[in-house]
Amino acid sequence: MEPLYEGKAKRLYQTDEAEILRMEFKDEATAFNAEKKAVFESKGHLNKAITLLLYRMLEEKGVKTHLAADGDEVNLMVKKVEILMVEVIVRNVAAGSFSKRLGVAEGTPFKQPIVEFSYKSDELGDPLINDDYAREMGLATEAECAELKEKALIVNEVLKEFFLKVGLRLIDFKIEFGRLNSGEIVLADEVSPDTCRLWDVETGKKLDKDRFRQDLGNVMEGYQEVLRRIEESGELNS
Ligand code: TMP
Ligand code: ASP
Repeated sequence: MEPLYEGKAKRLYQTDEAEILRMEFKDEATAFNAEKKAVFESKGHLNKAITLLLYRMLEEKGVKTHLAADGDEVNLMVKKVEILMVEVIVRNVAAGSFSKRLGVAEGTPFKQPIVEFSYKSDELGDPLINDDYAREMGLATEAECAELKEKALIVNEVLKEFFLKVGLRLIDFKIEFGRLNSGEIVLADEVSPDTCRLWDVETGKKLDKDRFRQDLGNVMEGYQEVLRRIEESGELNS
């Protein structure tokens, strides 16, 4: 069966139900706009499992997502949405492209979270944009930009608090939003160590895709550790 869409880390398939898609998590990993590539056995499974648990936790805290149901080892069933072509990044601590662009040392905490938008375009390497760019490019209206920012900050508070309870510092993350048929904007795509920076609170050890980006080794051990802590948090029991 042909996917409706194939990205770097996931494929989307139509199901028998018109409004439900199957989202398959791949083992392929890319970094730096696919300049660097690798396959990690079990990445698809780990990211599926982590996204499922985090989506359920977020839903319990009142954050709407496109999750419909669990699928299998590497698949989630999701509601069909129109993905907004704006990626939303929230940063609590300097790292990655922020540190590089601004010359601020990695690990410097921010007084307040920073929200950033980028244009979802592999061709252009997801360039940094602002509300005016989004409006001009027809990616999102001014009101939608404000809504994305507000929702992203709520997601940040919920995730930050949750991860802290399991000994993880949420440094930053990237999320995407989609529009349901009803017009409502909900969290979509994935929330996983591919899309979040997570450091051990005690040791500062990186447990996310930076292990791959920076050739730190034991990449899947990091993801497995994140899943283990979420599963053992006791907050989620299915
Ligand atoms: P950055 O510091 O490289 O801009 O990344 C910020 C956060 O966004 C980090 O948690 C990794 C995540 N991210 C993605 O999920 N996809 C991407 O394409 C990029 C560039 C970053
Ligand atoms: N830039 C993404 C990352 O480093 C992945 C990619 O674009 O290939 O997370």
